[in-house]
Amino acid sequence: MASNNTASLPKSFSMNGGNGSYSYSNNSTVQRIASMTAEAMIEEVIGDSLDIEKFSTPLNTLRIADLGCSVGPNTYIAMQYIIGAIEKKCISKGLSRSQLPDFQVFFNDQPTNDFNTLFTFIPPEKQYFVAAVPGSFHGQLFPKFSIYIVYSSFAFHWLSEVPKEVLIKHSPAWNKGRIFYNSASKEVAEAYASQFAKDIDSILKARAKEIIRGGMMISLLIAVPDGYDNSKIGVGLLYDALGSSLLDMAHEGLINADLVDTFNVPMYVTCPKEMERLIKNNDCFSIERLKLLEYESDVDGPLDTRKHVIHIRAALECMITAHFGNEIIDELFDRLDQKATVYRHLDASYRKGHLLFLALKRQ
Ligand SMILES: C[S@@+](CC[C@H](N)C(=O)[O-])C[C@H]1O[C@@H](n2cnc3c(N)ncnc32)[C@H](O)[C@@H]1O
Repeated sequence: MASNNTASLPKSFSMNGGNGSYSYSNNSTVQRIASMTAEAMIEEVIGDSLDIEKFSTPLNTLRIADLGCSVGPNTYIAMQYIIGAIEKKCISKGLSRSQLPDFQVFFNDQPTNDFNTLFTFIPPEKQYFVAAVPGSFHGQLFPKFSIYIVYSSFAFHWLSEVPKEVLIKHSPAWNKGRIFYNSASKEVAEAYASQFAKDIDSILKARAKEIIRGGMMISLLIAVPDGYDNSKIGVGLLYDALGSSLLDMAHEGLINADLVDTFNVPMYVTCPKEMERLIKNNDCFSIERLKLLEYESDVDGPLDTRKHVIHIRAALECMITAHFGNEIIDELFDRLDQKATVYRHLDASYRKGHLLFLALKRQ
C-alpha cells in the first residue's frame, strides 16, 4: 500500500515532461486551440494600448516573459503572435524593419518543469533570444521595471497551495471524500476562492514591480460566466470521477484513505466579475480588456472522454505521484477511463470551454 505522506501537496509540481503518450507536449491541443482564438485580440490590444512611445529610444531590447510556459510547443505560437503584433505597431509608428528592437523572451515555469524538452521545440526560424527562468510566478522573477510584456495562458488558475481549511478535520471547509470544490459545500468553494484572491494579489504585486510603465500583462485564464453553477464546471466532473476512483481504491485497501482526504486539486476557475474586483484591489494596472471567450471542443457527437482523461493525467500525474506514490498511477487512470465513459453523451452546456482574455496596462 502506498502511503508516502499525510501532509498537503507539494508547493511545486509541473506537467508531465518529455514527449511520450502522457506528456503535456502531446496533450495540450485544447489549450492551443483556445489560445489561437485569442490571436486577433492580442494583436488588437497591443496595437491599441502598448505605449511604445514611453519606451526608451532607441529601443535596444524588448523583453517579454511567458509565465507558466510548460513544455511547449504552445508557448512559441503565443510568443510569435506577440512579437508579430509589436513589430506591426512599431512599423505603423514609422519605424523601419532595421529600427525594430531585438526581442528577448523569458520562458518561466516551476523549477521542476522539463525545460530541456521545451527547448527542443524552439522554432528554427525564431527571431528572438531565449532564456529560461525557473521559479514561481507568485513571487518576483525579474529585476524592477525590466519587462515590457508579460504573457500567461492556462497557468494562473493553479493555486500556490491547497487552501489550508479544506485539510483541517472538523473545519466547516473540510473536504472529506472529495478532491475539488465543484460538488462540495459552499465553505469549501469559499476557501478556494479566498486562496485564489491571495494568489492573484501576489501575482499582480510581483508584476507591478517587474513591468515597465506603459508595458502590459496579457493572460488567458480558464473561467466560467458570472453566476455560473460550480457543479457544471466541465473539468470538475472528471475530478469527481477521479476522486471516486481514489475512494474505490481506498475501500479495496490499495491506498490509504487518509491520503485521499488530504488530496485536493489546487486549481480554481474564476469568472469575469471576480477577476475584475481582484484587479481593482491592486491600483497599479488599468484594465484594457476583460472579455469572456467561448471555445468549442467536441461539441458534436460523443465526447472523446479518453482524450480528456489523458489530458488530466498529463497535468496531474506528478502531483498524484508525489502524494500517493507512482505504483497506483496506471490503475488509477484505467479506473478513471472506465468511469469517464458515462460522460460521452454529456449535455452541450457542460462541453463549451470558457476563457477569460485579460489585458492590463502598467500605470
Ligand atoms: C496547463 S499548463 C499551461 C502551459 C502553457 N502556458 C499553455 O498554454 O499550454 C500550466 C503551467 O503553469 C505552470 N505553473 C503552475 N503554477 C506555477 C507557478 N506558481 N509558477 C510558475 N509556473 C507555474 C505549470 O507548471 C504548468 O507548466
